[in-house]
Amino acid sequence: MASMDQIVSLCKRRGFLFQSSEIYGGLNGFWDYGPLGIELKRNIKEAWWQDMVLRHDDLNQQPGSPAPYSMTGIDSTLILHPQVWKCSGHYDLFHDFMVDCRESKKRYRLDQVVGRWGTAKGKRAFVTAQVGDEAAAQMERQAMKFFNLRAKSLDELTWESDSQSLADLSEFTEVLGPDAKNLDTLTTPREFNLMFKTTIGALGGEDDTAFLRPETAQGIFVNFKNVIDSTRYRLPLGIAQMGKSFRNEITPRNFTFRSREFEQMEIEFFCHPQESADWYRYWRDRRMQWYLDLGISSERLRLREHEEAELSHYSTGTADIEYAFPFLEPGEYGELEGIAHRGDFDLRSHMEGKLDEKRRPLEVELGEDGKPKWRGSGKDLSYRDEITNEKYIPHVIEPSAGADRATLAFICEAYHEDQAPDEDGKMQTRTVLRFHPRIAPIKAAVFPLVKKDGMPEMAKEIYLALKRRFNVFYDEKAAVGRRYRRQDEAGTPYCITVDGQSLQDQTVTIRDRDSLEQIRLPASEVVAWISERVMQ
Ligand code: GAP
Repeated sequence: MASMDQIVSLCKRRGFLFQSSEIYGGLNGFWDYGPLGIELKRNIKEAWWQDMVLRHDDLNQQPGSPAPYSMTGIDSTLILHPQVWKCSGHYDLFHDFMVDCRESKKRYRLDQVVGRWGTAKGKRAFVTAQVGDEAAAQMERQAMKFFNLRAKSLDELTWESDSQSLADLSEFTEVLGPDAKNLDTLTTPREFNLMFKTTIGALGGEDDTAFLRPETAQGIFVNFKNVIDSTRYRLPLGIAQMGKSFRNEITPRNFTFRSREFEQMEIEFFCHPQESADWYRYWRDRRMQWYLDLGISSERLRLREHEEAELSHYSTGTADIEYAFPFLEPGEYGELEGIAHRGDFDLRSHMEGKLDEKRRPLEVELGEDGKPKWRGSGKDLSYRDEITNEKYIPHVIEPSAGADRATLAFICEAYHEDQAPDEDGKMQTRTVLRFHPRIAPIKAAVFPLVKKDGMPEMAKEIYLALKRRFNVFYDEKAAVGRRYRRQDEAGTPYCITVDGQSLQDQTVTIRDRDSLEQIRLPASEVVAWISERVMQ
C-alpha cells in the first residue's frame, strides 16, 4: 500500500485536495477539494444517496432485510435551535479532555498522547508522543534528547513499560510532553466542548449564542414528526441526510481524517422497538457491503462490534466499519462509519428534555424567574400505526458515515504503482488510481492521435456526445502515451483514441486503465459502451 506521503503529494499535484487558505499559510483542520477531488467526493455522495434512498425499493423486501421498508431524505439547516443541543446531550457532554504544554505552548487531546516509562543515567521519565505511525520513533528521539544519549549509547536506556495512554496517569510531574525538553510542563486535563459557537443577529448577546451542528443527525430527529405528517410513510422508515458538520477538534490530524469542517452521510432508521435488534444487524451488514461493492478490499476493511463497556447507556449495539489507513500502525484501523442502535433516546429527549441513565429528565439550569431555562420540546414525537393503531416511540438505528473519510479511503485503496509500457514501448513505473468506474472523477478521456487530418473534429464530436451524460476530458496536447499516463493518475477508467483508421472506418480504440487492453469499436457505439460500464 502507498505511504501517506505519496497519497498527500498526489492529491496536491493532481488537484484532489488542497489545504484551505493555503496562500495565507493554511488553516489547520480545514481542507479544500480541487477539480478532481470534488468530482470524486460528489460521486461517492451520489452513490450513497442513490443506493440508500433513490434506488431503494419501498415495495419489496430487500435481501437480508427483516421486512419491506421505506427510505426518504431531508436537508436541514447547519444552525439549529440551541435547545436541540441541550436535549441531545451535546451541550453538556460533547467534549474532549485536553492538556496544554506550558513550555512548547502546544495543545494535545489527552487520549491522543501515549508514552512509556524510561530510565537512563539515574533519571526516570514518562516519555510521550502523539498517537500515530511515528509515535514509537518520536518517543525514542524525545528520550535521547532528555537523557542526553547518542545513538551508540542507546542501550543505556531502559524502557520499563509498553506504550500506554497519558490518560491512564493520575499526575504528570514525571511526564515529558511530546514537544517539551523538561518534565512537568503539561497542565491538568481540562474539558473542551467541541461545538463551534456563533451569534445570531446583529445585536446578539449571550442568549443569542448558537452552534454550528456537530452532526447532521439531530436535524432528522427534530423533523421526524414533520416527515411523518407530510408524507404517507409508515414505519419502518429511514430518513437520510448528507451535509456539513463542524467540530472544533483539539488536534485535527491525518490529512482529512480528523477535520474541523467535514461532511456526513447519515440515516436515522425508525422502527418498532421489538424489531430494532434485527434492523440493527441488517444495517450493519448492508453498510459494510456498500464499501466492498465500491471496491474497498476486504483485507483492509473490518467490522468491529463495540464491547459492552464501550456502548452508550441507551445503546444495545454499536459497530464501526473501519479501514486500515496508511497513517496507522500495521494492524490498526480508523473509523469510516458507525452503526448504532440508539433506542428511543433521541426522540424521547426531544420530547421530555435531557434524560439520565434511567430515562428520567435531568435537573436543568434554572433561569432568573426560577423556572427551568430549557427542557424538551414538550411535543408528542411518538408514532401511531394507522393499520394496527398501536402508538409507540420508535427505536432508531443510525448508520453514520463520513464523506471525507470515505473519500480518503477510496483514494488510498485506489493508489497503485505498476509497470506499463511508455510511448516508446519501454516498461516504466506508472502511478494509477484504480477507482471503481462509478466513483471515478473523470469517466472517459477522448484524444485525437494527432492534432490534424480531421482527427480533432471527430474526437470532439465523441467528447460532446459523452459530455451530456457524465464528466469527460478532451486532450490533444503531448504524445498519446503521456496523455494516457495523466489519465491513469486521475483514475480515468477509459481512454478513447481517434486515429488514422477512425477516419476511414468510423471506429475508435478504447483503452482500459487497469488491464491496458485496447479494443476497437464503432464510434456510434461508444456512448452506450461507456455508459453501461460507468453508470452501474
Ligand atoms: N450522529 C452520530 C455521529 O455523528 P460520529 O461517530 O461522531 O457519530 C460519524 O461521526 C462519522 O462522521 C464518523 O464515522 C466519521 O466518518 C465522520 N467524522 C466524525 N468526526 C469527524 C472529523 N473530525 N473529521 C472527519 N470526519 C469525521
